[in-house]
Amino acid sequence: MIHYLSPRIQHSINTILTDTIKSQLIIKKNYQTMSNCKTLTIPFLILFLSLQAIIGQENKITIHINKAKDTISKHIYGHFAEHLGRGIYDGFYVGKTSEIPNINGIRKDVVEALRELEIPVLRWPGGCFAEQYQWRDGIGPVKDRPLVVNTFWGGVTEDNSFGTHEFLELCELLQTEPYIAVNIASGTVKDAYQWVEYVTSDKDSEITRLRSKNGRERPWDVKFWGIGNENWGCGGSMNAEYYTNVFKRFSTYCNAEYKIASGGIYDDLEWTKTFMTGIKGTPGYLNIAHGLSYHYYTIVNNWEVKGSATDFVENEWFKSMQNTLKMEGNLEDHIAIMDEHDPDNTIALIADEWGTWYDVEPGTNPGFLYQQNTLRDALVAALGLNIFNNHARRIKMANIAQTVNVLQAMILTRGNQMVKTPTFHVFRMFKVHQDALHLPSEVTTQNYKNDNSEIPALSVSASRDKSKNVNITIANVDPNRNVPTTIEIPGMENWGTITASIITSDKMNALNDFGKEELVQIQKFSDYRMNTSKIEVNMPSKSVVLLSISDN
Ligand code: AHR
Repeated sequence: MIHYLSPRIQHSINTILTDTIKSQLIIKKNYQTMSNCKTLTIPFLILFLSLQAIIGQENKITIHINKAKDTISKHIYGHFAEHLGRGIYDGFYVGKTSEIPNINGIRKDVVEALRELEIPVLRWPGGCFAEQYQWRDGIGPVKDRPLVVNTFWGGVTEDNSFGTHEFLELCELLQTEPYIAVNIASGTVKDAYQWVEYVTSDKDSEITRLRSKNGRERPWDVKFWGIGNENWGCGGSMNAEYYTNVFKRFSTYCNAEYKIASGGIYDDLEWTKTFMTGIKGTPGYLNIAHGLSYHYYTIVNNWEVKGSATDFVENEWFKSMQNTLKMEGNLEDHIAIMDEHDPDNTIALIADEWGTWYDVEPGTNPGFLYQQNTLRDALVAALGLNIFNNHARRIKMANIAQTVNVLQAMILTRGNQMVKTPTFHVFRMFKVHQDALHLPSEVTTQNYKNDNSEIPALSVSASRDKSKNVNITIANVDPNRNVPTTIEIPGMENWGTITASIITSDKMNALNDFGKEELVQIQKFSDYRMNTSKIEVNMPSKSVVLLSISDN
């Protein structure tokens, strides 16, 4: 697989390689039979040795230091928190009077754990909920805040105790940048621009006086603002042309530093085309759009029967990997349209919702989207992050859905207990790529086959950090076979020491559960050898590995 070719071409290369390997293995088997008969001839031995040499080169990763151009934006390691199920309430926020240790109602244990991830950006308040959210309901004394019904998620009462001030305090505790999605479907333009003013303006006005009255004199530094969410669906069922006009109207008045438009449903290329065409010609001083949003969820079967998060067979594991890999081709199609209309790369693709979506855990509210998280999710996270890293030129932010207790979460809570999921550990492992220089990689890999389908076994991305250390993250999605691999880094002059870590387990559905030993976590890895110009690594089945090579 060659990353700077399209996935379709990569797939053909992999198929050809698999066929070659198949015939090599057949010949190898033949040799064993002949050797038993002690009739091995010299020409056959030569043939065998050369085939062995080929087999030895079967899996190879070449990291191109000299072709490095793009920085991997740290915002690719972003997160998403919606008023959905137990994501905000119970997850992040338990209220000031809770017995669970908290800072102004915000859980201390969750903040402490998430600080390990160095979360660069957090998107809020939705999602679909954003288009229902009236920001004025969530400011001022908590006792005066209105009760409303969260019609999108579980039909539960939302007491608005977690609003703008609480969210921005959470971001300060996490040391993360906020990303706020404004309501453009059930709110007015005035509501939207006044929210931006309330949060960011340092001028004297009725709105900023209200902020001061509510306890915050200084404005907050909020750069990222979403102009709507999924406006093709829960954000007002708009078509692309209509949305583009609504976007322009809201964006013109929202005096925000970085504005992100809603994208179409994941494979709707027409939406991207219509939007990119429609915003052309808007006066430059209006600074209308900085990003276009993209959502992609990995589901196993279909939206009606998504399958269990924990109780699954190998074919469902395979589909999770296959469907995550499909995101790459889809992203490339959107990027090609953006390149055509915006050759200077001024508008970023923002993957602000992605991750796995299964059936909810038995006995839980179907509207709460609570799911467990296994080694399978760790592999999906690694594939997604490798894909985003490898498209860092256009993709400047991604936000996994969602941080706590919802969908592919980092953290699960139950009462005063908390677990770090396998996905948490992938984000911890991969944070070395944040704001590092992307190094293009060329990958030749055996395939992982299931029934009549196959996908590349290895997924790779690499970067060089400010201290010139090279970090390579590799996932082997094959749950049955190790993948012995050679890594070469032409142009790397100083090979220092290597440190390596791994996330794996014996079982595909290994998970971390409340009150039990943490089964899936980062461990030391040592199944590799380094000589002056290459590394031989034996990638264990169903594993994610980080190799860090220091520059001496
Ligand atoms: O993340 C859950 C939901 O998925 C979000 O609210 C919505 O934007 C998407 O459809």
